[in-house]
Amino acid sequence: MAIKPLPKLYNDKYYRRLKDDTRVQIYFGGASSGKSYFIAQRIALDTLAGRNTLVLRNVARTLRGSCWNEVIKAINALKPVLRDCFNVSKSEMLITATNNGAQILFAGLDDVEKIKSITPANGVLTDIWIEEATETSYDDYKQLEKRLRGESRHAKRITLSFNPVYKEHWIFRQFFGNWQDGASEYHDDGLSILKTTYKDNRFLTDDDRRALENEQDEYYRNVYTLGNWGVLGDVIFRNWRTEDLSDMKRTADKPLFGLDFGFSSDPAAAVKVHYDRAQKKIYILDELHEKGMTNSQLAELLKPWVGGHYITCDSSEPKSIKELQNLGIRAIGAKKGPDSVMHGIQWLQGHEIIVDVKCQHTKNELQLYQWRKDKDGQSMRVPEDRNNHLIDALRYCLEHESTARYATSLNLKGL
Ligand SMILES: Nc1ncnc2c1ncn2[C@@H]1O[C@H](COP(=O)(O)OP(=O)(O)OP(=O)(O)O)[C@@H](O)[C@H]1O
Ligand SMILES: [Mg+2]
Repeated sequence: MAIKPLPKLYNDKYYRRLKDDTRVQIYFGGASSGKSYFIAQRIALDTLAGRNTLVLRNVARTLRGSCWNEVIKAINALKPVLRDCFNVSKSEMLITATNNGAQILFAGLDDVEKIKSITPANGVLTDIWIEEATETSYDDYKQLEKRLRGESRHAKRITLSFNPVYKEHWIFRQFFGNWQDGASEYHDDGLSILKTTYKDNRFLTDDDRRALENEQDEYYRNVYTLGNWGVLGDVIFRNWRTEDLSDMKRTADKPLFGLDFGFSSDPAAAVKVHYDRAQKKIYILDELHEKGMTNSQLAELLKPWVGGHYITCDSSEPKSIKELQNLGIRAIGAKKGPDSVMHGIQWLQGHEIIVDVKCQHTKNELQLYQWRKDKDGQSMRVPEDRNNHLIDALRYCLEHESTARYATSLNLKGL
């Protein structure tokens, strides 16, 4: 189907990328710069032209709220005659173009079986889009590249989109060797890179724009407002790694639960943990990370998760704790006490923390939680009050353990 894309529907910087056939394509930069929306727009058009695209994120359950919605929005923004060419199956997360049978398939990298078997109804996969690609591992990327095989009249492409993180990341090492800080594009035979910021998105609301312009934190301003690769500050936790903990999740018989309340700007965040005191290992088995939840909605989510176990909650919200109790959750308040944040952090630092591969939000927090800096850039031994929702929940659920030892050491000091 021959389609002439209307420039007014696209941000200028992206428009000419509609026809970019480079094998590896990177769209990175600041928040709200139009990356995801553009890629979704392109996928809609490409599907009508016969391309089969696999849309991926690291964790399946994050797909529906992001890429799926973006692609649906992009389809709905097309002229009715084009829009009507799509057959959308939300339950299967599958979109098929009726003019040629080409498909858009969605999967999470944690859904290993689905990833292995997923193929379009007609022909081969021509495109892979990895959204928030910094969340994926190098090994996963290498495996995915191999999925682009087989005969097709279309050039095969793999497209990565993300906000930059820190320069130690594998994506930076793999693809940004020739990248000049300050540049906004790069192109060679096999790789194209486009950097954008909110300034490149003319569809943005003034409120969104202001929020980004008013960002005060240095790291956040650099990464999310300016779209630059960050140089991480003084990260608090380096003593963690990921592992597939599915088996332990089934067998752990004394799980610990912690909850940090949140509603609009902050999420309600909860963790399920297995603590191995002898080995000094903390296993984070599962997480819950939801915005905009009332306490009764939260209780509904928690019920099957926590069962009859106790869950230790942020004690600064006694009313919420009471409400959860009335709704059948065995919620108790953390004791906190003076110095509890610093003490909790130091205690956690003395352990090995193993995070289940599916706990994406926990991984993100552990990667970013850092010490505050003073105006000269010197690290103050005070943690920043961000990226700490699940980490706070983690401190609460282990409070009993950490304060027991704390008390003992204080007693000993007093002798
Ligand atoms: N071509 C467009 N037409 C209409 N709206 C658009 C267009 N491009 C972007 N937008 C609007 O701008 C908002 C931000 O764009 P988008 O989510 O694609 O940014 P992003 O670069 O992926 O941001 P992030 O880095 O935060 O994921 C979208 O919610 C969408 O409403
Ligand atoms: Mg995006």
